[in-house]
Amino acid sequence: MQHFLSIDDIDSLADWVKAARAIKIDPLQSKFLGRDKTIGLLFFNNSLRTRLSTQKAAMNLGMDVIVMNFGNEGWALEYGDGTIMDQGTSEHIKEAAQVVSQYCDIIGLRAFASLTDKEKDEAEMVLNGFRKYASVPIVNLESSVGHPLQAMTDALTMAENSTKAKPKVVLSWAPHPRALPHAVANSFVQMMRLQNADFVITHPEGYDLNPRITKNIKIEYDQKKAFENADFVYVKNWSSYLNYGMVLNQDPSWMITKEKLGDAKFMHCLPVRRNVVVEDAVLESDRSLVIEQANNRTYAAQLVLKKILEHLK
Ligand code: CP
Repeated sequence: MQHFLSIDDIDSLADWVKAARAIKIDPLQSKFLGRDKTIGLLFFNNSLRTRLSTQKAAMNLGMDVIVMNFGNEGWALEYGDGTIMDQGTSEHIKEAAQVVSQYCDIIGLRAFASLTDKEKDEAEMVLNGFRKYASVPIVNLESSVGHPLQAMTDALTMAENSTKAKPKVVLSWAPHPRALPHAVANSFVQMMRLQNADFVITHPEGYDLNPRITKNIKIEYDQKKAFENADFVYVKNWSSYLNYGMVLNQDPSWMITKEKLGDAKFMHCLPVRRNVVVEDAVLESDRSLVIEQANNRTYAAQLVLKKILEHLK
């Protein structure tokens, strides 16, 4: 595999889950594969899990790791072609991507959506700019429209906790005071298309995700009905896609409670706002898989880096 940019880079989800499970059993099985190779992780936005788990994954493969908080510490980047750079931006992505490629064998990038300009966000200027101008493989650590490493983790976690050949999986919106991106939900939906599952999305009206991503997937506006007989409830807030980036609703009745969850397993990518998105009783119950999801971030990242390193050899 050359790059890992989206769920489309997964050729067989079942094979990838199997390989990630094997890595989890023996994380040091390829501890020399990345020897003398360097990964650079560039964060334009905050992170706990992605930053640490990707470093851990790279170290398990014997790689050296450079991390930079690009959003705070790097030069403000220009993306336009032929721009007269007499305003706020200091460095063009054409140079920046080529320069980072001199120091790193793989580049991981986190660059969230602005949520102010849908067209620009969907153009994925950071991810696609680095892909275009860098000379080394690129890994998506959450971009404007996708978080495929998280979705790969979620597939692994569901496989480990599933007792049915065809589980019922619900993706539920939950309230949040701030406008959040669509990336996690988008990649989860794309990943669920590769699963044998009864899959339903539930959210208040006005919170429909990009219809190109949810095409032909069942949407249920009644959360209670959607949760009936669920095996997994995956919870995430996102802002409106139609009224791009707006918070239209903070209805607390959409918060996930133990009563609503019933016998289903609770999943969330974290970080999560307690007693806004989900009540304490859920997170502190044995139905919550959130810590296992966070643990599995390492093995999903390690699988992706392993595939890229094997391609580099
Ligand atoms: N789930 C996730 O990507 O966590 P971080 O934002 O902390 O990396």
